[in-house]
Amino acid sequence: MSGWLVIAGLGPGAQAQVTPEVQAALAEATDVVGYIPYVARVAERPGLTLHASDNRVELDRAAHALEMAADGRRVVVVSSGDPGVFAMASAVFEALEAGPAAWRTLDIRVLPGITAMLAAAARIGAPLGHDFCAINLSDNLKPWNLIEKRLRLAAEADFAMAFYNPRSKARPEGFGKALALLQDVCGDARPMIFARAVTTPEETMRVVPLPEAQPDMADMRTVVLLGNSTTRIIEGATGPMVYTPRSVQA
Ligand SMILES: C[S@@+](CC[C@H](N)C(=O)[O-])C[C@H]1O[C@@H](n2cnc3c(N)ncnc32)[C@H](O)[C@@H]1O
Repeated sequence: MSGWLVIAGLGPGAQAQVTPEVQAALAEATDVVGYIPYVARVAERPGLTLHASDNRVELDRAAHALEMAADGRRVVVVSSGDPGVFAMASAVFEALEAGPAAWRTLDIRVLPGITAMLAAAARIGAPLGHDFCAINLSDNLKPWNLIEKRLRLAAEADFAMAFYNPRSKARPEGFGKALALLQDVCGDARPMIFARAVTTPEETMRVVPLPEAQPDMADMRTVVLLGNSTTRIIEGATGPMVYTPRSVQA
């Protein structure tokens, strides 16, 4: 049988949010490749080899997956959430472009997953219901001044925003600087949502006015959402519901 390569999103955590299409690919795979905690979400079974690796070796992992598919294996590269959102799909295409021409004849498919910002938004209401953008706050793969520029321009354009990778032990300062910039440019009390470990047993949701947001409210398991200037809160029996109206007055 000829090999193939699928780049699949496992969703935010809950098994119920792994799509049937991704489950079917995993059921047919001979090899699963990915970052250690994501590969740990795939059930072991006879005939399936799990290749878990550290997060810092994305391109090596992608090349390994392509090599195995070229050798006739049925390979699934797994990411959390969606594989095209700050994840492995781009890394595989980078490796493909840099690799042997023969790799380009492979059967390669990307299977979407539910990304963290959409799972978080759904939990709290509809804070991304109008125009929004997603920004990765890690400066591992881009300079910090580019992050600040994008934050400032997105705030000036009144986008709602989703922030991935807000804060880690290796990057303790960046999120505080991002908050200070947003508090300064936005200048209002629009809601900020700290959604941690969404859809897992450790899930927490917290809504605070932007001026009260603190750096230690986020960690690497948190996606942070910020409303636009029209975002509203309805206090419900089970907690706040946050939504951004569908229209903006001319
Ligand atoms: C390297 S990015 C991967 C994003 C992933 N591809 C996606 O589409 O959700 C990792 C970041 O995603 C966010 N994230 C992933 N899963 C999450 C969850 N279940 N709850 C909250 N945030 C999550 C966090 O901001 C985390 O730092």
